[in-house]
Amino acid sequence: MKKRYTLEQKKWDSPATHAMPEHSRVPASFTVGKVRIAPATVLAPMAGVTDTVFRRFIRNASLFSSPSPQNCHPERSAQREVEGPAVAFDVAPNVESTTTNQQSGCGLIMTEFTSADGLSRTRESKRKRYLTYYDDEHPISAQLFGSNPATLADSARIVQDCGFDLVDLNLGCPAKRVVRCNGGSGLLRDLPLIERIFRAIRAAVSIPFTVKFRMGWSDSEIVCVQLARLAEDCGLNAVALHARTREDGYTGQARWEYIAAVKDAVRIPVIGNGDIRTPEDAAAMVHATHCDAIMIGRGAPANPWIFRQIAQYTASKEATGVGAYDVPTDQDRYRMIRTYFQMLVDEIALEEAAEAARAAAIIAAGQIAGNSKAQRHRDCVGKMKQFAAWFTHGIPNGTSLRKSIFEAKSGPAVLAAVESFFANRASHADDPNHAPADESMGLEALATSCD
Ligand SMILES: Cc1cc2nc3c(=O)[nH]c(=O)nc-3n(C[C@H](O)[C@H](O)[C@H](O)COP(=O)(O)O)c2cc1C
Repeated sequence: MKKRYTLEQKKWDSPATHAMPEHSRVPASFTVGKVRIAPATVLAPMAGVTDTVFRRFIRNASLFSSPSPQNCHPERSAQREVEGPAVAFDVAPNVESTTTNQQSGCGLIMTEFTSADGLSRTRESKRKRYLTYYDDEHPISAQLFGSNPATLADSARIVQDCGFDLVDLNLGCPAKRVVRCNGGSGLLRDLPLIERIFRAIRAAVSIPFTVKFRMGWSDSEIVCVQLARLAEDCGLNAVALHARTREDGYTGQARWEYIAAVKDAVRIPVIGNGDIRTPEDAAAMVHATHCDAIMIGRGAPANPWIFRQIAQYTASKEATGVGAYDVPTDQDRYRMIRTYFQMLVDEIALEEAAEAARAAAIIAAGQIAGNSKAQRHRDCVGKMKQFAAWFTHGIPNGTSLRKSIFEAKSGPAVLAAVESFFANRASHADDPNHAPADESMGLEALATSCD
């Protein structure tokens, strides 16, 4: 598979665990400019991960979750205690009808970061490749990186013309190839240039404009509060802080106290990011920082139910004062893996149909279509394998599922491996010795050179 990003390890570094705080929960909504986002949860941009398939997969989490609370069996619903001892719910509450306007509980999704230089150089007909999204992805934000104010402003205009609801600027990417061109976190050492970029983009678009940044280049150059104030002064509509420095990379724990400091400093919404792995972590971040919304990156591929769980918790807490959320069963995991893999296969079929239509118009049609078709299939299987490493976490005997997925050579073969694994599990459902729990984290493959 063609590598679109460098493999580095980005697993959690001795993550902290949080108890559910007594009086805090993730807000049911927040507003960025004129866009209302409900609930106040955001899927973090992740290069190589948050393409249109993954974003829609997270948006439609109900497809692979329990059909509806009414149909849930009480015993399979997580009776997670929150305040006080036993929780009175038979089933977790209906998130669709209460806190969220979306099925998954994820309020906002974002594209992988896109180079402003690349975008402005690309012919109009090819731009769609970088900025593909479907109607059911609204509200959606497109993230840009770059360092030239005029180019970034042009690209922001393209984003707006493509129909995105928001545009975001990346000031966090630690990758050398990005920093070398002064993009991503490289800009954190040049606030005057950041100001010119902010003003240029702000003048170019009317959609809400946000920035996602790290605390600073290093511990001796922390600029997050200054930067947030600058963003507010320049008319940006919200800021998102990944509470680490560029030098931190992904090591240590995110320092949420800096999110609190940014929240204290500005009136525009503050989105907190870093090390949320559970609904408890999400509420704990809100409790510790008073942020307006939370953003989840690595936690989403590791636990695609996380947004739904947060929404369920929030809904039940609002309705009764006590929170609860579902924990996935084996059957849910099966549906989840199957759904995602099927979506990847379907997307290729769609892309191929579109490409065939275009190729028919040019002389070298056969050659062009053939080459990109093979590449696309390799990419699809590569993605399946990459995701298998995350998704199979927690599945009893997940090692054997991973092995059979890694041995498969085509999309349909991967799907067949998944079917056969779960069919086999179902037929041994009553045998307690059949499937030892697999506790490996499976996040080793979660990697890219960017942030
Ligand atoms: C594989 C991967 C790719 C990422 N790509 C981007 C990106 O394109 N743009 C960005 O702003 N941050 C990117 N990040 C950083 C995340 O958005 C997020 O800030 C970081 O992972 C911390 O949040 P978490 O602890 O919830 O994962 C990436 C992170 C990972 C693990």
